Amino acid sequence: MKGIILAGGLGTRLHPLTKVTNKHLLPVYDKPMIYYPIETLCKAGIKDIMIVTGGNSAGSFLQLLGNGRAFGLQDIFYTYQEGEGGIADALRLCEHFSEGQRIVVILGDNIIQDDIVPYVRKFEEQPSGARLLLKEVPDPQRFGVPELDGERIVNIEEKPTQPKSSYAVTGIYMYDARVFEFAKGLKPSARGELEITDVNNAYIQSGDLYYDILRGWWTDAGQFESLQLATNLVAAERHASTPRR
Ligand code: G1P
Repeated sequence: MKGIILAGGLGTRLHPLTKVTNKHLLPVYDKPMIYYPIETLCKAGIKDIMIVTGGNSAGSFLQLLGNGRAFGLQDIFYTYQEGEGGIADALRLCEHFSEGQRIVVILGDNIIQDDIVPYVRKFEEQPSGARLLLKEVPDPQRFGVPELDGERIVNIEEKPTQPKSSYAVTGIYMYDARVFEFAKGLKPSARGELEITDVNNAYIQSGDLYYDILRGWWTDAGQFESLQLATNLVAAERHASTPRR
């Protein structure tokens, strides 16, 4: 299993914070944002990690992360996404890296409380397909939203004005090698991007998409409110685990 972190884009929802730097280099409490998804993959035992960057300060990732030894890795792989093609476009750059293996993809601004070990184990046990992690949220219209029918997701809508459930599809995705086939067949959405939601809907069409509900808190950190929330959640976690003097 290989890991991919998507850390490109222009981060326009965080202007002017991201005018001269990449969103994923901004601080979330005591670490740069990109540290959190790297740690999430490392805790799941994933050793081969590709970072897809782009936009401003792409070279700073190398300066910050080097060869990954600080995370116990032998090496880190980097690639560069030109323009704002969307999540599925960034993913397409990783086909050769995946070498036909299964992949865990994390959006670089997604931060979670727990680890993903139990979900990755379940994904390893499923014969094929994709596995998503859902989380109940107060503002589903900001996310990809699943329509549920019992144990199945029947459709996912990207940022619907009238969400069909109170769940968000989090930015942690597990895929088999068919993901690249699905990503190649996509057409740009209304916002001009290749949407990961369309990839996930292609898995639904082929009857091979499964999900878990994520335990612990989850947030993105791509807007002012969610960046602040991420910082507060991480700070509270640190204080809870540090014995008082
Ligand atoms: C992206 C995905 C969306 C998902 C979200 C999770 O949204 O398109 O489906 O729910 O990440 O963070 P974006 O951050 O591009 O608005």
